[in-house]
Amino acid sequence: MKFALPIVSLLVLPFAAAAPTCSLKSASSGVVTTPTSTGSTPGSTSTPASPGNTTSGSISMAWFANWHTDYTVANISWKGYNRMAYFGAITSASSAAVITVGDNEPSGPATFVAAAKQNNVLPVVTVGGWDGSVYFSSSFATSGNRTTFINSIVSMVNTYGFQGVEFDWEYPGSTNGLSCNTESPQDTANFLSMLQELKQQLPNVSLSAAVPVKPWNDATGNPSTDLTSFAQVLDYVEIMNYDVFGDTFSKVVGPNSPLDDSCAPAAEQTGSATSAVKLWTAAGFSAKQLVLGVPSYGHGYSISSAAAILSNALASYPTFNTNTFVLGDSWDAAGPDACGISQPPSGDFNLWGLISAGFLNEDGTVASGMTGSYDECSQTPYVFNPNTQVMVAYDNAQSFTAKGSFISQQGLAGFALWEMGGDYNNILFNAITSAVAGSS
Ligand SMILES: *[C@@H]1O[C@H](CO)[C@@H](O)[C@H](O)[C@H]1NC(C)=O
Ligand SMILES: *[C@@H]1O[C@H](CO)[C@@H](O)[C@H](O)[C@H]1NC(C)=O
Ligand SMILES: *[C@@H]1O[C@H](CO)[C@@H](O)[C@H](O)[C@H]1NC(C)=O
Ligand SMILES: *[C@@H]1O[C@H](CO)[C@@H](O)[C@H](O)[C@H]1NC(C)=O
Repeated sequence: MKFALPIVSLLVLPFAAAAPTCSLKSASSGVVTTPTSTGSTPGSTSTPASPGNTTSGSISMAWFANWHTDYTVANISWKGYNRMAYFGAITSASSAAVITVGDNEPSGPATFVAAAKQNNVLPVVTVGGWDGSVYFSSSFATSGNRTTFINSIVSMVNTYGFQGVEFDWEYPGSTNGLSCNTESPQDTANFLSMLQELKQQLPNVSLSAAVPVKPWNDATGNPSTDLTSFAQVLDYVEIMNYDVFGDTFSKVVGPNSPLDDSCAPAAEQTGSATSAVKLWTAAGFSAKQLVLGVPSYGHGYSISSAAAILSNALASYPTFNTNTFVLGDSWDAAGPDACGISQPPSGDFNLWGLISAGFLNEDGTVASGMTGSYDECSQTPYVFNPNTQVMVAYDNAQSFTAKGSFISQQGLAGFALWEMGGDYNNILFNAITSAVAGSS
């Protein structure tokens, strides 16, 4: 979940920390859409899963990003979901968490919570994210700072009526996040202290975390092997099984969201849903506490036809033009990160973006003139456009069906989609929900 938020927005935040009403605009435009109504799709029959209790496959969740001007709370199709995370809130230099858009915006927190409750969906607030994790370490480093942070969360929950709080720290005790993230070997231990203290303040609120495919680092900088105490305080974790390969950080074209990697070439076994479930259960979480994070987007790569196509088929793990960055769909942009450092576009295409760019037909099948393939190891598709020389590693109905069956077979808690608004005509959502229900 990498995205570019303009640095001006973040500089404003520390001064607005006390009141979550600062008005921020998203990266892409100055146009503010005025919704004609706040609720959508009334009559949903979904039932919110109760905090602290999941049965296999019971969580059906998505993250709603609050910064799109052309996809606001009014656009959310709630039917079939029982949780929705408001993305959301970020850390600040003063140790207080802050919501990034104001109450009067079309995607303000009050509008979101009201619409969620009207649709019988449990509203969760997400704190952090790729650009929002800068001050987690400093906010949790001392007892006094944790108190400041916890007070801000309690206030957010009480002000807006969120029924869950989710932490998306990218990443504790690691240099893999933004270059200006505060950081300490004690991050994971301090994170646990904060969660235990927060649980005492909010015993009836669902606590969760979005996590990388490998467990958070311990004080030695290696993946933790015992997270049992986290499993006692968190209801569940969502495994962010995406961005495993991408054009801005990988050397070869590989799957964005591999179901398995044990069958991949040894050098490309960098993580998957299968390996993540093994690692997180070995570290002390039960399968019933693991939600599989699934992407509605793919990563684009600049690659010549000669490198992309071998014997009339798409090459496997080919090298690409690492100096040429692909501009994805209209939600993608170059720009400064939260540290103020210029970043290229991510090359990400949402499913609707692959359709509007001509890679796929409206039913999600590969368009004529494009070359497609399906990798049986990662259980994910690729598509190549010979005109633009762009290959995209993405997800489709077939890969989401495989992911849904995996959730059911492994007895996982359910799925979480990044992001709400990325799908097209519910092609992905319908595939995964049918598979979770059908094979259980
Ligand atoms: C959890 O939910 C299931 C299904 O709704 C229910 O049967 C079970 O009693 C619940 N367990 C607890 C501990 O609440
Ligand atoms: C969101 O809703 C607005 C207002 O109804 C509509 O004009 C717009 O096309 C919708 N956007 C998407 C992405 O569906
Ligand atoms: C505690 O928070 C303050 C800001 O409120 C910050 O200046 C300080 O560096 C933090 N302490 C640590 C040890 O990170
Ligand atoms: C939590 O829920 C229990 C049981 O419904 C209730 O007795 C208790 O007062 C609640 N605690 C808080 C802090 O809301």
